[in-house]
Amino acid sequence: MIGRDTLARDLDRARQRTLALTDFDDAELHRQYNPLMSPLVWDLAHIGQQEELWLLRDGDPHRPGMLPANIEGLYDAFVHSRASRVDLPLLSPAQSRAYCNSVRAAALDILDTLPERDDDAEVAFRFGLVISHENQHDETMLQALNLRSGAPILAQRNALPDGRPGLAGTSVLVAGGAFVLGVDGRDEPLSLDNERPAHLVDVPAFRIGRVPVTNSEWREFVDGGGYVQQRWWSPRGWEHRVQAGLSAPEFWNREGTRTRFGHVEAIPGDEPVQHVSFFEAEAYAAWAGARLPTEIEWEKAAAWDPGAGTRRRYPWGSDEPSGRLANLSGTALRPAPVGAYPAGASAYGAEQMLGDVWEWTTSPLRPWPGFTPMIYQRYSEPFFDGDYKVLRGGSWAVAADTLRPSFRNWDHPIRRQIFSGVRLVWDV
Ligand SMILES: [Fe+2]
Repeated sequence: MIGRDTLARDLDRARQRTLALTDFDDAELHRQYNPLMSPLVWDLAHIGQQEELWLLRDGDPHRPGMLPANIEGLYDAFVHSRASRVDLPLLSPAQSRAYCNSVRAAALDILDTLPERDDDAEVAFRFGLVISHENQHDETMLQALNLRSGAPILAQRNALPDGRPGLAGTSVLVAGGAFVLGVDGRDEPLSLDNERPAHLVDVPAFRIGRVPVTNSEWREFVDGGGYVQQRWWSPRGWEHRVQAGLSAPEFWNREGTRTRFGHVEAIPGDEPVQHVSFFEAEAYAAWAGARLPTEIEWEKAAAWDPGAGTRRRYPWGSDEPSGRLANLSGTALRPAPVGAYPAGASAYGAEQMLGDVWEWTTSPLRPWPGFTPMIYQRYSEPFFDGDYKVLRGGSWAVAADTLRPSFRNWDHPIRRQIFSGVRLVWDV
C-alpha cells in the first residue's frame, strides 16, 4: 500500500512540472509546433479531464463532470488526432488552469479519506495512474517544446555529472537462465496493466552494451555511409529512409551542430545519441555487427540479480532514484554523458538503464500471459496488435516517481521526435 503522503507529494511534483511547462502566454500555448504534437493548452486541460474521470467519476464518462459534455469531448485522445487539436474550440489557458485546480482540490479531498477506505489499494492505484498520466504528458509537452522553432524558452535547470571515458562500445555478459519478467501489484502497487503479471521466462546468454550508443559512435555510422548503404537496413526501414530523406538523427544540422530546445550547439560526442527511429537503430546495430535487444533481454539486464535470484526494484537496488543514480525528471533537457552514473549500474554492470534515453527493442507491444486490463482499459489494449515497438528504460524527461524497470513504452518504428536512443546486444 502506497501512503497518502507519497501520493500527495507525487501529485504535486507532477503538477509543478506541468505548470512549469505551460508557464507561457496564451498565444504560445495555442501554437502547434508540429502536426505530431498537440498545442500545450490541449495537454493542460486533458490532464485535468483524465484526473477527473479516474478519481472523481469512477472511470465512467457518462457520469456528469465539471465540463459540458461537448467541451469534455474535445479532450478525448481517441477521437481527436494530435494534428487536428489546434483547430478545436479548446478551453483558454486560464479556463484550463482553473479546471485543473478544481479537479485537484476535489481529488485531494478524496485522498484525505484514503486510509479509512476498504478499497484503498484500488484507490491508491488510481492515484498512481493519474500521477503517471500527468507525468507522461509532461514528457510529451517536452517533445513538443523541443520541436518548437524560434529563440529558446526553456533552459537547463540542473548540472549533470561528468562521464567516464572508455565505456562506449563495451559490453557486459548476461548469463543464460530463467528470471522473473514483469511485476505483480503486491510488489509494485502502482505498476500498470501491461507490466503484470510477474512470470518466469528463460533467456539464453547474451552480451549487452554497458552504456547506450553515443553521438561519436553514431557519427562514424553517418560518415561511414551507414545512411546510404541499403545492406544495413530492413526492407521497410530502407523504404522509409529513402521516402523521408533521412541522413542523420533528427535535430542534427548539416554544420555538425544540433538544435536542442532552440539552442544550437556542438554535438557532445560522449552523450547517448537521441532522436533516432527504430529503423535507424536497427540499421546502426547491423552496421556495428550487433542487434537490438528484445524487451525481455533488456528487462533481465536491468532488473535481475543473479546472485540473489530475485528482481531488484531498480537496477542499482532499492534506493529511490536520485541525481547520483540516474538522469530523470526532465530538468536537464538532455541525456548525461555515458559513464555518469557508476552507482546506478545493474547487477550485471549495465549502466544508465533508467533515464537518459528510451531504448528501442525489437519487441512489438504484446500482453504478458494473464494480462488483465486496468480501469483505464484503453491504456494498453488498443495498441497490442498495432505497428509498435517497445522502448525501455525511460528518458531524462521521465519523472522518477513513475519509472520502474518493468515500465513499457511503445511507438511507431518511424518516430524520432521522442527521446529515443539505442543500446546494442550481441549473441554469445
Ligand atoms: Fe492522455
